[in-house]
Amino acid sequence: MISILYDVNRYRKFLNERVNDGNTVIELGPHLGESTKLYVEKTKLTVAVDKSSQSEKAFDKILPEFKNLRLVKGDARNFETIKKVMNLTQRCDVLAVDMGGGRFSDTVFKVWATWAGIFRPKHSVLRNRGLAEFIQRAEIHDESVIKEFPDDGWLAEWGRKTPYALEKQLKEFEFWVDL
Ligand SMILES: C[S@@+](CC[C@H](N)C(=O)[O-])C[C@H]1O[C@@H](n2cnc3c(N)ncnc32)[C@H](O)[C@@H]1O
Repeated sequence: MISILYDVNRYRKFLNERVNDGNTVIELGPHLGESTKLYVEKTKLTVAVDKSSQSEKAFDKILPEFKNLRLVKGDARNFETIKKVMNLTQRCDVLAVDMGGGRFSDTVFKVWATWAGIFRPKHSVLRNRGLAEFIQRAEIHDESVIKEFPDDGWLAEWGRKTPYALEKQLKEFEFWVDL
């Protein structure tokens, strides 16, 4: 299942409901851990990934409370960050992505599709307004791509590749300007 939200409170609530006992969760963009703190206790392992120093500071306080929580400080667009997470887990049950609800939807999609292709979550939960708007407005007019897909949280097209093939796709970010 792939779920999209925009309102941050709804995102936090929905993510908490989506996480089941004993799950492994990868959360991209936890910021101060407000979303993480709601569900972390239920999980076998939670890996939070954020590039900001604010996040690192906040997690310095949260980490000692939960033995099953790890923070990887790094940019989610960088394959080095993915490798650090792969050293902690190869798969996850839930992949949550909140890089900012108004963040460029093309970036959020590419980050999500790459991470989901590698860690193959049962559920993906994304927070992004542009993607939500796209889904509401888009219609498929080509029967050749309308299929029964398994109800999981990653795209078959991306997930069939090896992590190192996906690394090449991430390289494209080097051409993107980060404002
Ligand atoms: C809106 S905040 C997340 C809020 C959080 N989900 C909550 O419920 O409180 C977005 C976070 O995404 C992080 N972020 C944005 N782009 C990122 C990237 N490329 N790699 C890693 N973290 C990123 C930011 O540092 C920030 O902490």
